[in-house]
Amino acid sequence: MTVPRYIALIPAAGVGERMGTSMPKQYALLAGKPMLQHVMETFAHSTLLSHTYVVVSPNDAYISDLPVLAGTTILKCGGATRQASVTNGLLAISQDTEEDDWILVHDAARPGLTHDLLEKLIAFVKDDAVGGLLALPVVDTIKRSDGHGRAEMTVERSALWSAQTPQMFRHAQLLQALQQVQQATDEASAIEAMGHRPKLVEGSARNFKVTLPQDLLLAELYLKDFQGMS
Ligand code: C5P
Repeated sequence: MTVPRYIALIPAAGVGERMGTSMPKQYALLAGKPMLQHVMETFAHSTLLSHTYVVVSPNDAYISDLPVLAGTTILKCGGATRQASVTNGLLAISQDTEEDDWILVHDAARPGLTHDLLEKLIAFVKDDAVGGLLALPVVDTIKRSDGHGRAEMTVERSALWSAQTPQMFRHAQLLQALQQVQQATDEASAIEAMGHRPKLVEGSARNFKVTLPQDLLLAELYLKDFQGMS
């Protein structure tokens, strides 16, 4: 039996509509470098990972401007949804991957990931039967809207976590789950729908998903001034 490897898969085929820019948000400049380059470098510089794959759209016009990094392969097989992009990426690497290899799926829009967080996730999940993800316990009081701008009720938050990435699952199990489950917004939800319980590993606020224009400034602050924070 071979020892499972750790392989990164970065879905980067979104258009980032909520950012309101013509260029997809993963190419927005942060501290002088495109967001996606920060993410690719974090994985390329990690000694734990055996390879990194980046899934971009077939008509991506920006990826060729990024530096070529050792141990990193670009796959031009992005789909219409994040789920389709990850599924296409998993299919594209099937020949070079063992079914028990760990796949760490990480959003291109989370440039705040650090080596410490990556190492923590792997350490907590590597011996798990299912897999797991970085996530944060919810700290705010949570309201359920009535759909008309009014709070209908307050939701008990003690068991609530907000999901981050990387999300780490075995190649064969993840591919099967994503192919069977409809509308999975992340890998863990597909695995949960198959009856499993992914492990929640506490992440960090700095690993937030850049979504709105004002998020760029915060992401840049973390990248420039808080390199040591995890
Ligand atoms: O749009 P959102 O921020 O939720 O996207 C999360 C990640 O999924 C981003 O890295 C984005 O590029 C990626 N994505 C993708 N293919 C899509 C939609 C999103 O790879 N069709």
